[in-house]
Amino acid sequence: TVVRTIAELHARLDEYRAAAAAGTIGLVPTMGYLHEGHASLLRRSASENGFTVLSVFVNPLQFGPTEDLDRYPRDEERDRAVAAEAGADLIFMPSVSEMYPKRPLTTISLTGVTEGLCGASRPGHFDGVAIVVTKLFNLVRPDRAYFGLKDAQQLAVITQMAEDLNVPVEIVPCPIVREESGLAMSSRNVYLSPEEKSQALVLSRTLKRVPEWAAAGANAKELKERVRQAIEEQPLADIDYVEAVEYPSLAPLEDEKEAAKAGRVLVAVAVRFGKTRLIDNILLPQA
Ligand code: PAJ
Repeated sequence: TVVRTIAELHARLDEYRAAAAAGTIGLVPTMGYLHEGHASLLRRSASENGFTVLSVFVNPLQFGPTEDLDRYPRDEERDRAVAAEAGADLIFMPSVSEMYPKRPLTTISLTGVTEGLCGASRPGHFDGVAIVVTKLFNLVRPDRAYFGLKDAQQLAVITQMAEDLNVPVEIVPCPIVREESGLAMSSRNVYLSPEEKSQALVLSRTLKRVPEWAAAGANAKELKERVRQAIEEQPLADIDYVEAVEYPSLAPLEDEKEAAKAGRVLVAVAVRFGKTRLIDNILLPQA
């Protein structure tokens, strides 16, 4: 079932909560154009909760003025099919005016975790994510909410925010789902030309080697250099950042620090291929 208004969403949730056999509620927030990565979050939620809500909302507040808000891919029919197959019980697909009838005067802004990585190159992005996710938490009041490690910084930001503000929700991290080729699934992959897509495989191919380099004693600086060099071999790759940070604080790892001796380390990259900015990462030690 698709609902587009907050009133209908509440009616459905009230109905579920009033049922004798009501269980927990899981929320999977997305911007749609669903792929296997989104489906994996939905399946996990459906397996752990009695009722799973999928939200599909392209949130204008998290896009910068020069970003792809206007061309962000949409396909409602396919989203409905993927959602049904993956076990969503309800799809919340609000309009922009339903979510933001007025421009909000409240900001939710985190320090620390938002400063590096994508926060540095996308000013205001995580404020936009934090406010929409908070609104979705308040609208749905889920017991659990599911987020992918594909967006590791986003996951760290939301986990920190939920903890700081005592939001009564369990944030569930989910592993990165990749195409057969290794490319991390993303709604934005449709923008890539065949040439860009084949060069973009360098990201997963290189990140996959990070555990062996770390095990061989590479320090943070060496790790970053090896990753950067491999990516730079692809002529279409334009690097935004290659970083090694502690996880989940996202504090930069000192250059001399051996990655294998640093607790959990996130090696994360953002690279433009043509007009498309891709992100990927690996978390050490591997589970
Ligand atoms: P979106 O990019 O649609 O992603 C929705 C969720 O799916 C996020 O938690 C993201 O990490 C997860 N996801 C995307 N690709 C994945 C992959 N290959 N493997 C595993 N999980 C993957 O992230 C957003 O939307 C928005 O910022 C949102 C949180 C909905 C707020 O607007």
